[in-house]
Amino acid sequence: MRTHYCGRVDTSLIDETVTVCGWAHRRRDHGGVIFVDLRDRTGLLQIVADPDESRAFAVADAVRGEFVLRVTGRVRRRPEGTVNPDLATGEVEVYAKEFEILNRSLPLPFQLDDTDMGEAVRLKYRYLDLRRDAMQRKLRLRHQVIRALRAFLEDNEFVEVETPVLTRSTPEGARDYLVPSRTQAGHFFALPQSPQLFKQILMIAGYERYFQIARCFRDEDLRADRQPEFTQLDIETSFLDETGIMSLMEAMVRKVFLELLGVELPDPFPHMSYAEAMDKFGTDRPDLRIPLQLVELKDLMGQVEFKVFAEPANSGGRVAAMRVPAGGQLTRQRIDQYTEYVKQFGAKGLAYIKVNDPGQGREGLQSPILKFLPDEVIAAVLDRTAGEAGDLIFFGADRAGVVNESLASLRVRIGADMGLTQPGWRPLWITDFPMFEYDTGLKRWQSLHHPFTGVQAQHIDRLDSDPGAALSRAYDMVLNGAEIGGGSVRIHQEAVQEKVFQVLGIELEEARQKFGFLLDALQYGAPPHGGIAFGLDRLVAMMSDSESIRDVIAFPKTQKAACLMTEAPSEVDDDQLRELHIRVRKPKTGAQ
Ligand code: AMO
Ligand code: AMP
Repeated sequence: MRTHYCGRVDTSLIDETVTVCGWAHRRRDHGGVIFVDLRDRTGLLQIVADPDESRAFAVADAVRGEFVLRVTGRVRRRPEGTVNPDLATGEVEVYAKEFEILNRSLPLPFQLDDTDMGEAVRLKYRYLDLRRDAMQRKLRLRHQVIRALRAFLEDNEFVEVETPVLTRSTPEGARDYLVPSRTQAGHFFALPQSPQLFKQILMIAGYERYFQIARCFRDEDLRADRQPEFTQLDIETSFLDETGIMSLMEAMVRKVFLELLGVELPDPFPHMSYAEAMDKFGTDRPDLRIPLQLVELKDLMGQVEFKVFAEPANSGGRVAAMRVPAGGQLTRQRIDQYTEYVKQFGAKGLAYIKVNDPGQGREGLQSPILKFLPDEVIAAVLDRTAGEAGDLIFFGADRAGVVNESLASLRVRIGADMGLTQPGWRPLWITDFPMFEYDTGLKRWQSLHHPFTGVQAQHIDRLDSDPGAALSRAYDMVLNGAEIGGGSVRIHQEAVQEKVFQVLGIELEEARQKFGFLLDALQYGAPPHGGIAFGLDRLVAMMSDSESIRDVIAFPKTQKAACLMTEAPSEVDDDQLRELHIRVRKPKTGAQ
């Protein structure tokens, strides 16, 4: 239908006749002459309709925003003074000879150039939202990232294998989406939370290097970086240990950043143990761009008069400080805001000390808590935090989880508020995770990664004696404070797998019922194997500087896990339910 793309018409085509197609991005009437900016996937091109070409002019006159057009005309240089340097085609225009309306459009619910419309309207009219230049760029970048990842994996002899979507529950810590079976009354498939077990089976089947761009489904509470269905780049390898897997995977990520963003990531990525990350940053996904760190003070506080510090210090909690350089300038109001902010993580307060002149000890400081702390403790706090004149030191004291979450979140917030966050990309690996963490509510051990994660050889005895102290062979790739990938070397011995189930309180019978196929397969020559899965949406969101992964997913869901365009989920016919052997408990309505 066309001879050229809009965005590729340039001065080399002057005086030639071209036919172009696209959407009327804007239409302007300049005293008898009509200008239409025609848009296709390559960009914008100015069309001019003049009354001298009366037929073309009449059609152009009827054009409105987002009408679909086909225009034939001569390319000419724009008159002096009307060149648009912001546009690739800004030096030329097409003088329309034939002007055809291929389809009309209703007036739009929002202008495509608007940047501040609400997300609800964007999601309902996603086809219009996706027409916008910014969205087109993001989805194209996503495509390019996938292509570059595939190319790397292909060069390294990985094979892409698809695994089932209708399957059994694969535990990754979220709720399952269930699909009822019509042929077996009362039985359900689960949608995969990840292809974890299938990829391990593929290793046992001898494929050695597998990958898949895999859709995963998790019915969990949604946030900006979580969707109920999302995409993993899922990878598994045999005969590589964690060092081999990590170096191959970071080479892949380095290549993609270099090819698509021209960014050189460090080689190699730094490694940090889970323990060190929690100690220094209060989180296992530290944003290394922020130059603030936590300092442990627990050992200093056991004897102090200040109960807020003494109690957690004496009862297995944490007392930590975070020094904010030049934080002395923070207003009282700001500090109150931060105190409110950390309360959402369970903190009961946010003690602080202003450092005016550290040389003067107590006299050079300012804080309501000073009177509760002896001189030698104050001196040690100043020493450990390296407090300088003009600084502010914040304190957290509580259960370790509360202190870590509060100060880790405050660290990120202050980094942004005070402009401390350095530009650039700071990837790292987090390693040496504990195998298990104790769930005080359920009163049992839970896997920190998943139950198929291997235990470090020197800690295998701890599975019996001290499960909480056993470290795993898991690793996470963290980039600028986001976990973009996580994996592990797996358990490849059936006896060890059974032992881990035992620690998790999964009885042998239950284990056989849920994972019998894996326990069986492990007994038929399972090679040492391990892998990783990257959150593709998160990776692309970061690479495209998007605030939410919803911006890099063509048809995402809302916080309530609904699609506003198709209005899924929806009710279904009684007939359909009957076939599926399902009776719905109707939610009570207020009217009854
Ligand atoms: P994990 O559960 O850590 O590991 O998931 C791997 C990566 O997937 C991304 N991710 C998500 N992205 C968007 N929305 C979500 N709801 C969501 N949940 C997770 C994260 C995360 O790092 N089978 C293991 C991997 C393995 O051991 O090989 C797994 O799924 O970026
Ligand atoms: P209070 O003794 O409750 O008046 O608290 C004195 C100071 O300690 C205030 O600045 C509180 O914000 C702070 N504070 C109270 N509880 C904690 C806590 N658990 N961790 C850190 N600071 C706290």
